[in-house]
Amino acid sequence: MKLRNRHLLLLWMLVCSGTTEAIEPISTSIAVGVAAALTGFLATHQNIFCYIRECCRPEWISFNRTGLQTDLENKLFGQHIASRIILKAVNGFMSNDNPKKPLVLSLHGWTGTGKNFVSKLIAENIYKEGMDSSFVHVFTSTLHFPHSSQNATYKSQLQQWIKGNVSNCERSMFIFDEMDKMHPGLIDSIKPYLDYYDKLDGVSYRKSMFIFLSNAGGESIIETALNFWIAGRDREEIELKDLEKALSLSVFNNDKSGFFHTSLIDKHLVDFFVPFLPLEQKHVEQCVMAEMKARELEPDRDVAEKVAGDLHYFPKSDRAFSTKGCKAIQSKLDYYL
Ligand SMILES: Nc1ncnc2c1ncn2[C@@H]1O[C@H](COP(=O)(O)OP(=O)(O)OP(=O)(O)O)[C@@H](O)[C@H]1O
Ligand SMILES: [Mg+2]
Repeated sequence: MKLRNRHLLLLWMLVCSGTTEAIEPISTSIAVGVAAALTGFLATHQNIFCYIRECCRPEWISFNRTGLQTDLENKLFGQHIASRIILKAVNGFMSNDNPKKPLVLSLHGWTGTGKNFVSKLIAENIYKEGMDSSFVHVFTSTLHFPHSSQNATYKSQLQQWIKGNVSNCERSMFIFDEMDKMHPGLIDSIKPYLDYYDKLDGVSYRKSMFIFLSNAGGESIIETALNFWIAGRDREEIELKDLEKALSLSVFNNDKSGFFHTSLIDKHLVDFFVPFLPLEQKHVEQCVMAEMKARELEPDRDVAEKVAGDLHYFPKSDRAFSTKGCKAIQSKLDYYL
């Protein structure tokens, strides 16, 4: 109001003085002043807004490299290969201000080995709000795209959704769970967003991150891990190259896997395939100890051994790997406490 009154007063003074030629430059400068004041007001308003609520700005989105490294070292058990790849991939991508394409990670492995868990760790070390961030989006095939008869609708919704979210914030993260159960046509519909385009319809997707989770290849990873176990070799001796061949045979050439019917592979749109190893009893014990800590209980090794010892392992004779990984230990722990 104050601003408006001053504006009117100045105009009135000019009209009274009769200097009409002077009106134009002076009114222009007033307009500039008003615009500047308005911009300042909006910027302050926006700053206050972003102080309180999550915005697509560095205060809310910034990568904590040491945080991710510490979390991977201390919280993720038995996944030396996945830890290494993820830290390198995310660090490289987040420290690049001008990436050529979005980061696409594909996490593979047996149930309960930490694929969702790792996605959460990544989100927590990028977004202040972690998985609750409005820039982190999770899709689960069986939940969000259950009926293949509606694929055409899903396709356009998914494309609109991705476009809308990336237009809103270029540092968006998309997690696709149960990727192996997703219809190939639907996967193909997100392909353009993963590619090396500068912009698509005016939107750049190059700073977004896509994480695909699946059990595809889990059995072949187990086979390799079991061979090391039987040979009495250390688990940490397993290298990515030991798993790559098995993964490619069982996943990339498997015509039952919906994921790999698509051209994601031939087009090299996935930047990293990340294998998750099956978990041993000692890792399950670590998960139980972590769960006790999370509940602010005094970690008790005896309880952890009991909980882990009563779970199922395979092959039955060796009890090498946990059938459900670290899944369901939360409810099991309730029973033992
Ligand atoms: N390697 C691990 N290190 C630490 N905790 C783990 C690990 N694996 C699983 N967990 C724990 O078990 C829970 C379930 O694991 P998660 O949901 O990540 O499994 P998943 O690999 O996604 O399995 P699925 O293929 O069935 O979806 C996690 O929330 C975490 O608490
Ligand atoms: Mg999962």
